[in-house]
Amino acid sequence: MSLTVRPIEYAAQADYTRLGGEAFGAPEGGRTVPTREEWEAADFREWGAFDDDDGLAARLRVYGFTSWFHGVQVPTAGVAGVAVEPERRGSGHLTRLFGAALAEARENGEVISTLFPSAPGIYRGLGYEVVGSFDDVDVPLQNLSRVTAPDGITTRRATPADFDSIVAVHRTWAAAQNGPISRAEKPFWTPPEKFFADYTGVTLAIDGHGSAGDAGAVVGFASWIRGEGYTPADAVMEIDDLIALTPGAARALWRTLGSFSTVVGAARVSTSGLDPAWLVLPDLTSTVHAAHPYMLRILDVAGALAGLESPLDGVRVPFAVRGAADIEGAWTLTVSDGVTHLERDAVLAEDAHHERPVLSVNGLALLYAGTQSAANLRIAGHLTGTPGHDAVLTALFAGRQLHVRDYF
Ligand SMILES: CC(C)(COP(=O)(O)OP(=O)(O)OC[C@H]1O[C@@H](n2cnc3c(N)ncnc32)[C@H](O)[C@@H]1OP(=O)(O)O)[C@@H](O)C(=O)NCCC(=O)NCCS
Repeated sequence: MSLTVRPIEYAAQADYTRLGGEAFGAPEGGRTVPTREEWEAADFREWGAFDDDDGLAARLRVYGFTSWFHGVQVPTAGVAGVAVEPERRGSGHLTRLFGAALAEARENGEVISTLFPSAPGIYRGLGYEVVGSFDDVDVPLQNLSRVTAPDGITTRRATPADFDSIVAVHRTWAAAQNGPISRAEKPFWTPPEKFFADYTGVTLAIDGHGSAGDAGAVVGFASWIRGEGYTPADAVMEIDDLIALTPGAARALWRTLGSFSTVVGAARVSTSGLDPAWLVLPDLTSTVHAAHPYMLRILDVAGALAGLESPLDGVRVPFAVRGAADIEGAWTLTVSDGVTHLERDAVLAEDAHHERPVLSVNGLALLYAGTQSAANLRIAGHLTGTPGHDAVLTALFAGRQLHVRDYF
């Protein structure tokens, strides 16, 4: 049966909610349908595939936000809530649904798209690839007593007056990574009252090395939810953020968490990749409680790859992309004045194969995210063509580690 793909209006919210409940689970009695006011106030875009009787066969939601890559905030289309009605699965409906949603994203100026897949195979054919993982990791609190006490760093409880300092610490950390959502837009921007209401406590690491009388600079924070119980065998506390800008801040925050060890067995820390805050831990007897792989796709080659910070002034790399009509083509990337520039080249795809590196759409995502080197892209079959530019391609994109700390 042919399906019509179009934006979802409020009238289809009951169907949208039912399909979501069937796919992702629902409390007894079903999920609550949002009111028109709630739905209109939310800053997302929803797309559906409808049959001839206006029945909703497939749906997804797109959040528009910025995420940090290569030192700049990049407009990103975050896709969530992808679901197909059980009886219509396996019929290829996702291709058209994504085609429409990503065309709209591109019109909105979003140059990359990201998502948390329930299985990467669903999105690989659409050009997404796994670039990192957002994980909940259980750290036994007893071992934290072995973390060396920092010199001159203390901890204290944050108050709403500290909100700007907390945002600044997150921004300093996020700008140095690839991947973090900037938290500058809804639904990731949180007003101070809500931020503090979400946690039992937010602990700050304060650097007291400043001048006498100085209140000290905030150099890290941990936001935590204490949870129930006081038996270490089963009590677990949740840590949403543990962000430290110095090793002393990391030590101070871990030690404060460790002070719960008589009543809480483990801290369930939301983290990603090889987080530098973990380099101060004397042992790593931690276990991954839940892993959420993160996938990325480039929507606009020039939009995504130009204007990035790069120290490689003077380099010039021609490359081509193939495998998806929307972003196929050939470009030359140059770096001047510390930023990347992109020029579109008129090269036939078959010529491009011999003269320049050729990236698959998935390969371009992996390279851009800094997740895989050119050598690894060749091993994975995502990079072909002349190898002469491989070292520069790797150096251009591999300078920052991939981290993501917000789920959608
Ligand atoms: C996942 C889901 C949306 C896929 O719908 P579908 O109708 O089977 O998808 P399509 O027929 O359009 O297939 C799209 C691709 O997904 C792949 N795929 C489907 N189910 C898969 C699975 N469980 N594991 C890995 N790949 C899968 C298909 O092989 C196809 O790959 P291709 O494009 O490379 O050929 C659907 O099964 C569903 O609603 N599941 C429950 C909710 C869910 O998991 N949603 C995803 C949240 S991120």
